[in-house]
Amino acid sequence: MDFEKVIDRNKTNSMKWDFVSERYGSSDLWPMWVADMDFQAPQPVLDAMQKVLDHGIFGYHRRPASLREATTSWIQKRFDWTLSNDQLVFTPGVVPAISHLIQTFTEKGDGIIIQPPVYYPFYALIDNNERKLLRNPLKETENGFTVDLEDLEKQMQAGAKMLLLCSPHNPIGRVWKQEELEAVADLCEKYDVFVVSDEIHADLVLEGKHIPFSKAAAEKNIEVITCMAPSKTFNLAALQLSYVVFEKKASQKKYEAHLKRQFVEIDNPFATVAAEAAYREGEEWLENLLDYVRGNVKFVKQYIETNMPEMKVIEPEGTYLVWVDMSGLNMEASKLQSWLREEGKLALSDGHIFGEEGAGFARINVACPRNNVEEGLSRLQKAYNNR
Ligand SMILES: Cc1ncc(COP(=O)(O)O)c(C=O)c1O
Repeated sequence: MDFEKVIDRNKTNSMKWDFVSERYGSSDLWPMWVADMDFQAPQPVLDAMQKVLDHGIFGYHRRPASLREATTSWIQKRFDWTLSNDQLVFTPGVVPAISHLIQTFTEKGDGIIIQPPVYYPFYALIDNNERKLLRNPLKETENGFTVDLEDLEKQMQAGAKMLLLCSPHNPIGRVWKQEELEAVADLCEKYDVFVVSDEIHADLVLEGKHIPFSKAAAEKNIEVITCMAPSKTFNLAALQLSYVVFEKKASQKKYEAHLKRQFVEIDNPFATVAAEAAYREGEEWLENLLDYVRGNVKFVKQYIETNMPEMKVIEPEGTYLVWVDMSGLNMEASKLQSWLREEGKLALSDGHIFGEEGAGFARINVACPRNNVEEGLSRLQKAYNNR
């Protein structure tokens, strides 16, 4: 568990490192963008995958009952949320799962609410499926960002069918509190809106406690469908394993029938053993990771506050993503974007891609050795000083 160890990811077909030029137009940028980590997965995961590799046969594969059991035990332990093993439907990734959920439970033209600034593929999921985008921007209060309930009610009155929740929230790093989730659930009940809750970052809580929306809303008469995965938690994104948790059997059957029609049914043996080993034996690794990420977040906050006072760090309660307010630099979104690239030599996630509310912000991924964080920040400071 040496999170300080720098492992070269160049020339490994890494999206973050090797495809920076394709995405950002230049190869000499320091990559702190896409949400994966520059750390190796826990040793038990590597050992389990090695065993599959040594066996050497990669024919058609099915997910075993033991994976379901490991998953529900993890969820019970981490979130005190009791699920039965047959409530889970495995899908390759959370984004494809959400797309399939939209196709299964909504019709063309139906309204879907999102809460920008938010994980940008949400826009494409709604747009590509020809659903209507309803925006409920988060509001900034003196205590940080929260849900604008008044506006949420307006969006529901405008005819929303579904709310696509991001919990914990990417990119602002909020870990929603029971009261906030309940207030949202009250409105969903009042306007008969069902919720797809993307909880992919649920394990990555730095402060507070993740409460599954389904659990927070248990007393309400609403339907909640939850998407989770071990991919962000243990750095397994490329293995493409996620799962959807259903509360209602009828909905689950409908979704399974949809997947069957699309032939989404081939499983990957590496993903199976990796996920199972992570859930059974990865907890200590995760606790150490969270401590390390907390240290990186603190480091970023202090560094920016001390050296770049015109920027403001929005301290995340969850995720390893730090949302930085650079509006004090008084640059238009496109100018800020080119300044970060051309002067900062940095590949960060530009705030405006998460929605217009993100203009003037940038998201910095700090799931990397401290040395790599320092390199990124010193580039930023150099550009800041030379402005
Ligand atoms: C909120 C959220 N949902 C989904 C994903 C991606 O999920 P997957 O790779 O399983 O499709 C991410 C990755 O950054 C994310 O932040």
